[in-house]
Amino acid sequence: MDLKQREEFSNNIVVILAMAGSAIGLGNIWRFPYMTGEYGGAAFIVVYILACFFIALPIFFAETIIGRRGRSDTFGSIKKLAPGSRWHHLGLLTIITPIVVLSYYSVVGGWSIHYFFRSFGPLFSLPAAGSFSEFISSAEAPILSHSIFIILVAAVVLAGIRKGIEKFNKLTMPMLFVLILVIVVYSFTLPGAMKGVEYLVNPDFSKITPDVVAAALGQAFFSLSLGVGTVLTYASYMRKRDNILVLGLGTAGFDLFFALLAGFAVMPAVFAAGISPAAGPGVVFETLPFVFSKMGGAAIWLTVTISAIFFLSVLFAALTSAISMMEVGVAYLVEEKGMKRSRAVIAISIFAWIVGMLCSLSFGPLAGVQLFGNSIFDFLDKLCSNWMMPLGGLLFTLFVGWKMPPAEVLDEFSNGGKKKLNAAMYPAVRFLLRYVAPVGIVVIFATAILG
Ligand code: ALA
Repeated sequence: MDLKQREEFSNNIVVILAMAGSAIGLGNIWRFPYMTGEYGGAAFIVVYILACFFIALPIFFAETIIGRRGRSDTFGSIKKLAPGSRWHHLGLLTIITPIVVLSYYSVVGGWSIHYFFRSFGPLFSLPAAGSFSEFISSAEAPILSHSIFIILVAAVVLAGIRKGIEKFNKLTMPMLFVLILVIVVYSFTLPGAMKGVEYLVNPDFSKITPDVVAAALGQAFFSLSLGVGTVLTYASYMRKRDNILVLGLGTAGFDLFFALLAGFAVMPAVFAAGISPAAGPGVVFETLPFVFSKMGGAAIWLTVTISAIFFLSVLFAALTSAISMMEVGVAYLVEEKGMKRSRAVIAISIFAWIVGMLCSLSFGPLAGVQLFGNSIFDFLDKLCSNWMMPLGGLLFTLFVGWKMPPAEVLDEFSNGGKKKLNAAMYPAVRFLLRYVAPVGIVVIFATAILG
């Protein structure tokens, strides 16, 4: 596609909102609290923060540099920046991964739609603990909500960069922060909540093991949507004068802040109800509705409101991330295959819908289908989070750190030398990109292989 025809985000703030929308998602609200619970509380958070800023952020910069300089989809950008090489074939990997992630991500996104409606009793009365597994193992309801979720994502992506993605993020991201703050305040008022707060702020460093480090790194990857080309693709819609350093720090900062907020929304409620913080992936969907419905004899209207607000936040967060994943494949089909945007959206939606359906059924009717000892859902999640995303991240960081000419990287990172602070920070960023980030990724792989 001709450069002039490419859409652009309106300004730097909008890019930060869109990138934060891509980053902030189920990874923050659903995954972060239970990972923190499983991997030792505050000590995990400390490792996670270090992983975000020293390993994930440099990879974020790498993707942004490739995207904005290449001004095309993942495949096309790499091809443009390294003509005659074979690097762009590896770029294909990072187009397939987000479509697969989108498939199973939409299943969980669909659960939030279901639980949102279920918040409004008596027809959709709040579930007791345990009914979460009943719900996900049934066939119709989860597939219906998965389908609605995919349609919502497709509708926004179909509307394009400014009218769809930009508008949706501008509307939902500020709302998301307000909604989650309401939940934090509610959680803090519950009797016994302070134990949950302590759990999040008092690190016990003896709990840090190689597994904890690998889990924190994996979470940083998932949360910042790295290695799946979403950052690269969104960066390709950035204006040349926007500031990559500000974008990276802003996105990572918002993402971290939001993960902590989600932790403070979930953990005090979990402790107040006397439930184990390591209750696993069901913590958000199983425990919280139970907590909301039982706590302190709360009035029904309050229970319904809090529950609905909570699942609406989960839905918004999931939608803005899923939208960015769909855009990666759509940009590829439009720019490399010359497809119309509408056709590309339909093709990817149908693929994600079918694969997502299989994932959803793997909690029930297809539970017997095992791939390397895992259900379809778990297999795809592990394949993507533990292998494909870090592998994509490794590709991007090696490409920018070792393949692109350093002068070109510096030029892009500092807007042709105009951003003095960026230029001053560049040697440190380059060191992180060439050595620290690749070693961090190898740690994830080694722990996955040896563990
Ligand atoms: N970054 C997205 C999330 O955290 C995938 O949910």
